Amino acid sequence: MTAPKYHLTSYGCQMNKLDSELVETKLQQRGYSAATAEADADVVLINTCSVRQHAEDRVWSKLGKLRIRKRTEPQLVVGVIGCMAQEHKRYMLARMPHIDLIVGPSAFGDIDDTVEKARTRNRELVAQREPARTKHEVVGAGMVSVDHGISGDSIKRNVKVRPHQSQAYMSIMRGCNMPCSYCIVPTTRGDEISRPIADLVDEANRLVDDGVSEITLLGQTVNAYGRDLKGQDATLARLLRELHGIPALRRLAFITSHPNFLSPDLIDVLAELPKLSRYLHLPAQSGSNAMLKAMRRGYTVERYKKRIEQLWAKVPDMELHSDFIVGYPGETEEDFEATVALMKELRFSQSYIFKYSPRPGTLSAELVDDVCDAEKNRRNQVLLAVQEELSAERNQAVVGSTVEVLVEGESKVAGRMTGRTSQHRLIHFASTDKQLVGQYVPVTVTEALAHSCVGDLQGHDAAEGGAHDLQYDRDLDHEQDPAQVSGS
Ligand code: SAH
Ligand code: SF4
Ligand code: F3S
Repeated sequence: MTAPKYHLTSYGCQMNKLDSELVETKLQQRGYSAATAEADADVVLINTCSVRQHAEDRVWSKLGKLRIRKRTEPQLVVGVIGCMAQEHKRYMLARMPHIDLIVGPSAFGDIDDTVEKARTRNRELVAQREPARTKHEVVGAGMVSVDHGISGDSIKRNVKVRPHQSQAYMSIMRGCNMPCSYCIVPTTRGDEISRPIADLVDEANRLVDDGVSEITLLGQTVNAYGRDLKGQDATLARLLRELHGIPALRRLAFITSHPNFLSPDLIDVLAELPKLSRYLHLPAQSGSNAMLKAMRRGYTVERYKKRIEQLWAKVPDMELHSDFIVGYPGETEEDFEATVALMKELRFSQSYIFKYSPRPGTLSAELVDDVCDAEKNRRNQVLLAVQEELSAERNQAVVGSTVEVLVEGESKVAGRMTGRTSQHRLIHFASTDKQLVGQYVPVTVTEALAHSCVGDLQGHDAAEGGAHDLQYDRDLDHEQDPAQVSGS
């Protein structure tokens, strides 16, 4: 019998993507193999995000399409996993009875059992029934595993299941204990649980032994790491020191930081340890104190700026990335202008800008969503334009210098390769040498675009470069993380 095939699509943050790798590990250990296309899969899983309505809408519409497929393939297993599963639980089954399994992030540890059970249940159903002709006749196994399953942290990671040869994410904590008024993450991910330092050092060593040279540590408030590990002296600063000692590790980064936990200790470590990446994702969310208070972020604009001053005093080359929400309930034009002003003053290198989206069950969902969509759109566009200018300016500042690039792969435009610097700057350069993937190469930056730079490879046999043409460079520049320009 051939191995059953699964197909897994991931939405949402990096943590979800990493969870997907863990789920794949479990399925592969159980004898499943990855389908090349969703249409060939026996099991279709969707790892979902609830952070904004738009993220959920995409999943509902995908589920609608899968219902049509299940009319003629009733044995197909359709599974919704991750944050939407946790958030909506059984409601999903009421709305979409063809779903076979609903598994929250805390129940990934035995997801292979759940999938197997659903497959068996479907075979029984198929034996009993004719294929469905109307959408109402399409039924699924209806398995729900949320809240009290076996946690995903129980999965011993198979380090070979990862998309990039030289780069890996590592989750150092789960959940979030912060009280931000608008945010669904504490509901979908639960309380903060930090993994012990020894486990993390072990996982990092296994990744590095398998060829990884850049590790990015993940947590919703990654710099609050260790708060729950009482008496173990576990802090992000200490963890970074331990991991920094792994000889073959060359770059170490961490996302996402919360302004309240940018401690002097962490700043010292950033200043001291050369392998630490030179960017900090430190979402400000707003430049208005009234909004920050309403959002329950726990800091003022002044305090945020002070922390950055302290950071730049010790680590002047640190690039700053942020998230901003526009159109939070009650946000006036003045509040919004204060956000524009903060952005310009701190000259962020990159920002993700989001239109406020009320999430049922959060505190702010009780408030009237009083900034209309057209105005949210306008504010979103204004901030995006300001950020583009700032990003281009920051990129311009490195033109003429030679930077170290970790080559990530071929660019979408033929004849070019793409990689990132330790400041997370995307760099394109002329080369067709695929052997460069995973290597650290020197590139002299010749041109700055809004979201990336173009440069010449040094000390390698670079392909014929030629003069850049503008349209071509624009195409290159759009090979960025799409979320960066998302206003959804
Ligand atoms: N833990 C991270 C980010 C989590 S969610 C942090 O606290 O920084 C990623 C981003 O989504 C947030 O920073 C915020 O800008 C945005 N976001 C969260 N909830 C949102 C909502 N209800 N509407 C719009 N944007 C939201
Ligand atoms: Fe959400 Fe705030 Fe936690 Fe970030 S810190 S995940 S915005 S509650
Ligand atoms: Fe979304 Fe869940 Fe991440 S809600 S942002 S996938 S933690």
